[in-house]
Formats: sequence, C-alpha cells, structure tokens
Amino acid sequence: MPVSKRRSQGKKIAIAVFASGNGSNFEAIARRIKQKKLHGARIKLLITDKEHAYVRVRAKKYQVKDIFVDPKKFKDRVAFDKKIAGILIDEGIDLVVLAGFMRILSPYFVNKFRHRILNIHPALLPAFKGEDSIKRAYHYGVKVTGVTVHFVDTHVDHGPIVLQQSLEVKSQDSLDALEEKIHRIEHNLYPRAIDLFIKGKLAIKGRRVQII
Ligand code: GRF
Repeated sequence: MPVSKRRSQGKKIAIAVFASGNGSNFEAIARRIKQKKLHGARIKLLITDKEHAYVRVRAKKYQVKDIFVDPKKFKDRVAFDKKIAGILIDEGIDLVVLAGFMRILSPYFVNKFRHRILNIHPALLPAFKGEDSIKRAYHYGVKVTGVTVHFVDTHVDHGPIVLQQSLEVKSQDSLDALEEKIHRIEHNLYPRAIDLFIKGKLAIKGRRVQII
C-alpha cells in the first residue's frame, strides 16, 4: 500500500518544511514547485525553532507562511511537539519535510505523522549519523560518501531509506568543495524523493521502501 493517497483525490499535497538554519534545501524544493518541475504539491508552511534563521528570509521570497515556535516557551520536548502537531493538523498538512531541523522529534510526534515525515542526511546512512556528518566523513578519510533521504522513525537518522546517492571523494577535494558537492546532490535528491511520495510510488515494508 503506497504511503500517500491524497494525489488520487486530485488534491495537492500540503507540505510543511521544518528547518533551523540556512534553508538551501527549502529553497531547492520551493524553486522546483515554482518552476512547475514538482507537480501536485505546495509548501504550505515553514516551521522553525530559530527566530533568526535565514530560511525565514527564503520563505518570504517564496510567499510561504512561516511560523517560529520558541522551544524556550515549552516545558519539554513533547509539549513543543504537541504545539507543532496542532499547527500541522489545523493547516491540513500531509507531509513533513525536515531540512536541517536541529531538534529531535519525540515518539509522540513521529507516531502521529507516521510514514509522513521525510528527512535528508548528508551521508550514506547508517554511516555518520548525527551532526557534522560531512566534516566527520571527510576527516575520517572516506573515499565514498553521499546523501540519504529517509522516512523518520523514533530513532535518530534511522528510518526506512527512500533514496541514496553516492559521491566519490577525490584526494584533491577540500572540505568546502565536498560540502558544496553534497549540497548540490541534496538539492536534486530531495525533490525527487518528494515527487515519489506525491505520486504515491513509495511502499514501506519493514525497513525497505519499494518504489512501485
Ligand atoms: C543539509 O546538509 C541536510 O542534509 C542536513 O542539514 C543541512 C541543511 O542545509 N540535515 P540547508 O539549511 O537546507 O541549507
């Protein structure tokens, strides 16, 4: 059974992007939609936990409603996540796209939006989970690294993998050069994964995601 069914009803998939920083992935997705290269979806909302995140500037540019939710105002992670879940339900969100969101989502949230949360990670999972993955992979001396898009489950950087793309690390590559190459891959791979979701082409069987 595909994980997205809205498309068959002829409605656009409503996406909420969650981001904490620069927002280049937000922009890559927004640009694809604007250029009509990603059909059947719209970014309805940006959620951020950082008041001054640059992604908010990008949201304004693409006329996407942005909501800053201040974690300091909540007693714990679940209280914060309940607030966000309420916003998503009010806005009729179908798909959550994590793009550099620097908070771990609680099992409460993940279970509420089960199989409807995607994340992008700048390494070939399960290698280099967590933060600073590009830097850690570079200093580890890997010869191959890449990008992973996966469904989010209750463990960090762990859920079923939708797409991965590898990249050879050349001996002359600086860390900056590698970061740039990784981001370029991300900006194509994430829209591709979202497109598969929108078209109802993803079926999850245990840890395996079948493209149907
Ligand atoms: C990306 O490298 C993504 O893989 C990671 O956080 C970074 C966000 O970059 N999860 P940006 O804010 O989209 O530019």
